[in-house]
Amino acid sequence: MSAGITVLYATVSGKTKQFAQTVRERLLHAGVEAEVHNVARYSAARLRQNDTVLIFATNWGAGAPPPDAVEFCHSLEDPRLKLTHLKFAVFELSSRLKVKVGGCGLRIDAALRARGAKALLAVVTSDRRSYAPFEAWYAEIARALHVGAARRASAANPELESPVARLRK
Ligand SMILES: Cc1cc2nc3c(=O)[nH]c(=O)nc-3n(C[C@H](O)[C@H](O)[C@H](O)COP(=O)(O)O)c2cc1C
Repeated sequence: MSAGITVLYATVSGKTKQFAQTVRERLLHAGVEAEVHNVARYSAARLRQNDTVLIFATNWGAGAPPPDAVEFCHSLEDPRLKLTHLKFAVFELSSRLKVKVGGCGLRIDAALRARGAKALLAVVTSDRRSYAPFEAWYAEIARALHVGAARRASAANPELESPVARLRK
């Protein structure tokens, strides 16, 4: 069983990867082990070795998973997979211009619940250019996981304070 937190992302154009990496850096600065993976290279079965997973998913094509996440979503929906020990939270990126019909994040959330995993909080869906929902989500996660020093550490390093700096690069 992995002691740290696994941060996964399902991306089309890279934004969710940047959010995932920001979370990893904040956790590391708070002294919490964390690793980031693209779901394209992370099997759902591997979640059996994890205690906590945070997932950033992008909305794509009216609820379909992005191509990189097809296999991950499919195997997560296998009823034989038991993840009753797992805690998780999902953050979903979408576009205001697109009609949102039950996105990839909602699908992953539903599948994890169906596998018996415990949601730390409900899925948050955010526009890719709005950072307030992310900050609110992260604050809830830090509270739920008792990552108290994360905010203090990030305040000392503006790069970690918000993904805005990273996203503008
Ligand atoms: C080809 C394409 C299709 C998309 N389809 C949807 C959609 O159906 N619903 C939605 O809410 N957002 C949709 N979006 C917006 C993405 O969810 C949004 O841009 C997100 O930030 C992309 O994250 P990523 O860079 O990690 O892939 C789409 C974006 C692209 C490029």
